[in-house]
Amino acid sequence: MTAQTMEELVSLCKRRGFLFQSNDIYGGIKGLYDYGPMGVEFKNNLKQAWWKSMVYERDDTEGLDASILSSPVVLKHSGHEDTFTDPLVDCRACKSRWRADQLFENDKCPNCKSEDLTEPRPFNLMFKTAIGPVDDGSSFAYLRPETCQQIFTNFKNILDSTSRTVPFGIAQMGKAFRNEITPRNFIFRVREFEQMELEFFVKPGTDDEWHEYWINKRIEWWVNQGIKKENLKKIEVEKNELAHYSKRTVDINYVFPHGEEELEGVANRTDFDLGSHTKNQNDFKITSEVMKNSSSTTKLAVQDLEEKKWYIPYVIEPSAGVDRGVLALLNEAYREENVDKDNKRILLSIKPHLSPIKAAVIPLKKNNEELVNLSKEIKSNLQKLGLGRVVLENSGNIGKNYRRHDEIGTPICLTVDFETLEDKSVTVRDRDTMKQERVSIGNLSEYYKKYFN
Ligand code: GAP
Repeated sequence: MTAQTMEELVSLCKRRGFLFQSNDIYGGIKGLYDYGPMGVEFKNNLKQAWWKSMVYERDDTEGLDASILSSPVVLKHSGHEDTFTDPLVDCRACKSRWRADQLFENDKCPNCKSEDLTEPRPFNLMFKTAIGPVDDGSSFAYLRPETCQQIFTNFKNILDSTSRTVPFGIAQMGKAFRNEITPRNFIFRVREFEQMELEFFVKPGTDDEWHEYWINKRIEWWVNQGIKKENLKKIEVEKNELAHYSKRTVDINYVFPHGEEELEGVANRTDFDLGSHTKNQNDFKITSEVMKNSSSTTKLAVQDLEEKKWYIPYVIEPSAGVDRGVLALLNEAYREENVDKDNKRILLSIKPHLSPIKAAVIPLKKNNEELVNLSKEIKSNLQKLGLGRVVLENSGNIGKNYRRHDEIGTPICLTVDFETLEDKSVTVRDRDTMKQERVSIGNLSEYYKKYFN
């Protein structure tokens, strides 16, 4: 079972500290969300799982963490200054603004139903900010609209510093910003979000095969994070809808509570980006004064040693949204169950490696010194194993603690009771089955490591 509605997820996320509307106490800002205590753990675990599979478990990739503020020159060459737009219409009656391709009833304002709309015009989605102390518009940067451009501009640095040869990939996770005209559907379409992107460089001619490889690999990864295969759809992007850099893109769609939409795109970007950044920038109109004198003449190419000639590699790009991943996985994990004929429970059946809290240690009696001290010691020992956050719950209300930890997806709760003082064992309760077993404190580390590995 998944959540029935987006409202169920929104409510759980606020109640249990996953996500809050940003700037909430001042009325909020549309399209911005803050990750709370549970959200930040969950999101970090998801990113860590991605990094593990894209960098640590492979022998053909490297990592990068580049700056967010981006030179206009880079985004001119990448095509974003000219083409990264959505069609915008104004309602002359109520002064609201809409994305023309997202009007439910064509030619009608969704707010006031007026048909007095302007013609669609391109609206660039990039946020601009001033660089340096003088804000006269002459020197500015963009907040990056996708994380990958700095991968391309660092291509040679990484090649030179690691001695990699094609095929190889560069992975990066981090913030991206888009001034979406109509942010909506909770964290599905927001103005500040995170991406997990791999740019995998290959020899032209081998690109189609590598593209298929990455499409399948990425679907397999999402399934391993806990999404049922039948809720993921492989969608071929129509030729006339392809981004300016793409030869072919396959979207991995997920059935979100609001409908089926893109979770990740896997594109064949050909040699568009490395090729573009290789050209001398004088081919382009430079918009920022500060960049006018800079010039990239770096050749982002590699040598084919057999054929003894230089070529620009093609790039296959699996690009996933972290926030959309969080939303999909929360939805997938959401369950409502009858505990008995009078009681229901909500639980998040999240895979243990993604759970915000790995284990809760609960002394049966609040503030009982013996039980609390022993609980603290157990918590501290499990925490030292380094598998994620472990918490101590000293409220003395076991039922309430179980309910809370079911709802935030904690896989196991460990109760320290008076018997523990005698038999040196604790009760371990499993989130999904609610089954309980006694485990001796001496075996707890092994039990715990086994559980999470
Ligand atoms: N570098 C390629 C690229 O950025 P994209 O399809 O525009 O491609 C990739 O974005 C992923 O980033 C999407 O599949 C989605 O998961 C996420 N994403 C894009 N725009 C978003 C937004 N406004 N809010 C949340 N996630 C977004």
